[in-house]
Amino acid sequence: MNTEFEQNGLQQELIADIEGERIITEGMPKLARKSAAEGMVLLKNSGVLPLNYKEKVAVFGRCQIDTFYVGYGSGGDVHPPYQVSILDGLRENSHIKLNRTVQRAYEKWCFAPENIASPGKEWGKWPYFYPEMPLEEDLVSLAAEESEIAVIIIGRAAGEDRENRLEKGSYYLTDEEERMIALVTKKFEKTVLVMNCGNIIDFSFTQKYEFSAILMMWLGGMEAGSALADILTGKENPSGKLSATIAKEYTDYPSAANFGGQDENVYEEDIYVGYRYFETFAKDRVLYSFGYGLSYTTFDIEPIAFKNKEDVCEFTLVVRNTGTVAGKEVIQLYLEAPHGVLGKEGKRLVAFRKTEELLPGKEQEITISVSNELLASFDDTGKTGHPHTWVMEAGEYWFYFGVSAPSGRLAYRNAGGHDVKIPLVVHKAESACGLHKQMERIVSVKEGENVMVGKELLPAQENLLADRILERLPEEIAVTGNQGIRFEEVCEGTASLEAFVAQLTDAELQALTRGEGATDRPSGVAGNTGVYGGFFPPLKEKGVPVLVTTDGPAGIRVKRYTSLIPCGTALACTFNTALVEALFEKIAVELERLQIDVLLSPGMNIHRNPLCGRNFEYFSEDPLLSGKMAAAAVRGIQCMGASACPKHFAANNQEVRRNKNDSVMSERALREIYLRGFEICVKESSPKAIMTSYNKINGVWSHYNYDLVTTVLRKDWGYQGMVMTDWWMQKTTCPEFPMLRDNAYRVRAQVDVLMPGNDGPGDAYPQGYEPDETLLETIGKRDGIMRAELQRTAMNVLSFAKEIQNAKKKTEE
Ligand code: BGC
Repeated sequence: MNTEFEQNGLQQELIADIEGERIITEGMPKLARKSAAEGMVLLKNSGVLPLNYKEKVAVFGRCQIDTFYVGYGSGGDVHPPYQVSILDGLRENSHIKLNRTVQRAYEKWCFAPENIASPGKEWGKWPYFYPEMPLEEDLVSLAAEESEIAVIIIGRAAGEDRENRLEKGSYYLTDEEERMIALVTKKFEKTVLVMNCGNIIDFSFTQKYEFSAILMMWLGGMEAGSALADILTGKENPSGKLSATIAKEYTDYPSAANFGGQDENVYEEDIYVGYRYFETFAKDRVLYSFGYGLSYTTFDIEPIAFKNKEDVCEFTLVVRNTGTVAGKEVIQLYLEAPHGVLGKEGKRLVAFRKTEELLPGKEQEITISVSNELLASFDDTGKTGHPHTWVMEAGEYWFYFGVSAPSGRLAYRNAGGHDVKIPLVVHKAESACGLHKQMERIVSVKEGENVMVGKELLPAQENLLADRILERLPEEIAVTGNQGIRFEEVCEGTASLEAFVAQLTDAELQALTRGEGATDRPSGVAGNTGVYGGFFPPLKEKGVPVLVTTDGPAGIRVKRYTSLIPCGTALACTFNTALVEALFEKIAVELERLQIDVLLSPGMNIHRNPLCGRNFEYFSEDPLLSGKMAAAAVRGIQCMGASACPKHFAANNQEVRRNKNDSVMSERALREIYLRGFEICVKESSPKAIMTSYNKINGVWSHYNYDLVTTVLRKDWGYQGMVMTDWWMQKTTCPEFPMLRDNAYRVRAQVDVLMPGNDGPGDAYPQGYEPDETLLETIGKRDGIMRAELQRTAMNVLSFAKEIQNAKKKTEE
C-alpha cells in the first residue's frame, strides 16, 4: 500500500467541506443516464427481461441502497450534485412494483448505525465490498409468495494503488453473498442477477446457480440507478457489449501466472491478451466473449459489398432490426490474418460501429473502411526480413462480423476476404524500448490446421540508445536576454515562440519543466492536482499563464460539485464513440466553468488482468476499442479549449508497487497491444498533453524513457503536445549519460514537466516552487544537459500554453 499519498491528502475532503453550489450541467443528466444504460451488458436472458409492469419484483442485496457509483482513488473521488441509487432508480423511474417487505428489511438493516457503508478516509484502505445483510430464509419465502421475480445485486468496489484480490469479497463471492444467491435462486423461479462492479470478478457461480437473466451493470456514475431502471424495464434496450473477456476461471487468463510481481511483471503472453489469447488457444475457456451482449430485439446483418482498394478494405452491410422492439446493434469487424512466420492472433478487432436506434423492421446501411495499418503486425525480430516494421505477411486476410450467440460466445460470420500475394511493408518504424534482459514469450505454432502454444526465447537487445539520443540532439536557440517580448504577443502571432524562448534565463527554463510543487495550489480551483507554466514570477511577468490540472476520468475531481459519469469500462462497453464524445463535451463545459486547463483523463491502460485495481477507469482489453474511446473522450474534453491528458503512457497494468515495477515485454507486444490505443488516440484526436506512467518498461521508468516519448510518441507518431509525469517520479542516474540524473535525465527524454513539481508527497513546498539542482548542475558541461534540450521542453510547454490560451479565447468569442 502506498502511504505516501495519504500524507499528501490526495483523497479529497468529505462532502461537507465541498464548496460551491450543486450546479447540474444542462443536458448532463440525460447523457450520463444514457451512457450508463448503454454501457450495461446483458449476458443472459431467458425472457424474464424486460420486467413486466404487472409483475412484482423483490430486490435483494444491500447495494440496492449502498450502490457503487465509481471506484476509489484519483479516478473516483468526484462529488456529484446528486446520485441515484439502484433502489431510488427503481422506485422513482419505473413502473416496477417493488416488494415492500424486502425493501423495508434492507432499509432497516442498511441504515442501522452499525451497518452504515463507508468508504473510509484512508487512501488505499477502502473496502472491497460491503458485507451483505444476513438473509432470513422466511423473508425470502415470503417474498417469493408475494412476488414473481427476484433481482439480486452483487456489488464490488475497485480502486487505485492496490489490486483486487483472489479472495472472498474481492474476486470471489463472500459466504453471505453466496447464501443469498442460493436462497433466492431456490425460492424464486425467475431471478435477475445484476453485477454492480468495477472489475470483472469470478463468474463461475453463474454456472452453479440458475439465473434467468444476468446483467453487467458496472459503475454507472450519478445516474446509475435510473439507468438500471431504464434497462430492466425496457425503456432502454440493452446494446452494450463486453470490453473484456469473462473467462471460466481466473487461471484461464494468460497473464495469471505473471501478474502481481513485486519488482517485475513479465508479459509472457505477448500479444495474446484477452480474446486474442482465447480465440487462438483456448476457445472453450470463455464464459462470455469480448464483444458479447444481448438485446431485447434481434438483428440481421447482411454483408452486401466488400472492396479491396489499395490500402483499405471497404465493407458495406445492412443491419435490420428483425425483432419487435427498437434497438441498436454494434457491428464488430474481426480480422483473421494469415499465420505466417510471425504467428497471429485467432481474431483481431479491426473496426466497430454502432447503429442508430432502429425501429422494428427498419434497417441501416453502413460502410466501414479498414486501413492496412490495422491489418499489419509488428515484426520485432526480423523474421519476415523486415525488422521493426509493421508488415502484412502474404496469405489470406479474412474478415468476420461478431454476433452474440445464445451460448455466451461470439459467433463469427464471414464478411469477405482477400489474398495478399507478397508481404507488404505497411510502416517502417525503428527499434525502441527493446528488452534489457532475455525473456520467454508465448508464440503461436501451426501444425497443419492446428495451432498450439509455443515458446520463444528473446535475447536482451544491444542498447543503442545513447547513439540515438546524441544523433538527434536539438539545436540551441541563441539566447538574447530579455527583449521585452510578452507571451500574449506570441499568442496573437505578432512574435514567434522561438524569439520568446530565446529571452529566457536558465532559471526560467528550469521552472517550465516543473509544476509549482504540490497539489491543491491556490491559483487553481480548490482540490486541483497541481499547476505548471507561469507560476514562477519572472515567467508570470512575461505573461505566461498558470496552467491548472485536475483529475480524472470519472468527472472533475475537485472540492466542488461536478458531474460523476460512468466508469471507463462502462463507457467502452457502449461501443458508442459519438455518445462518449457528447458526454465529455458536457465535462468540457464544467472545465470551463471551473477555469481548469487540463483534465487528467482519459485513463487508457489495457485490461491485461481482471485483478488490476484500476481496470474500472480503463476501457478494455482491446487496443482498438481503447484507442477509439480515448479519442472520443479527448475530442469531447478539448472542444472548448481545455486539454485532455490521456494516461498512463504506458503499460501501467498493475497497481502493486506501481512505481517500482518493471513491465518486461517484447517490442511486438508493446507496439501491438500497449501502445496501439495511445497511437490511435494521438493520431485521431491530437491530445495536447499526455501523462507518463509510474512503472518501468524494459528497465526504464516511463518518466525517463526517451524511446517511449521521443522515438515513438513524437517521432514515429508525430505527437505535437507536451508530456508530463504521473505524480512524482523516482530518482535515479541515467545509465547512458551518468552525468545526468533526475530532472536532467527526464528532460533529455522530453518528458517535459514533473508534476506536481516537488520531490514527493512528504516534501510539499509550503512556499511554492523550489528548484533542485539536478537539472542545471551539468549545463554547459561535456556530456551534460544542453540548454537546447531545456529550450525544446520550453517550446513544448509554451506551445501547449499558447494553444490553450487561443482556444479559450475562441470559445469566449
Ligand atoms: C494517478 C494519476 C492521477 C494523479 C493525480 C496519480 O496517483 O496515477 O492517474 O492523475 O495521481 O491525482
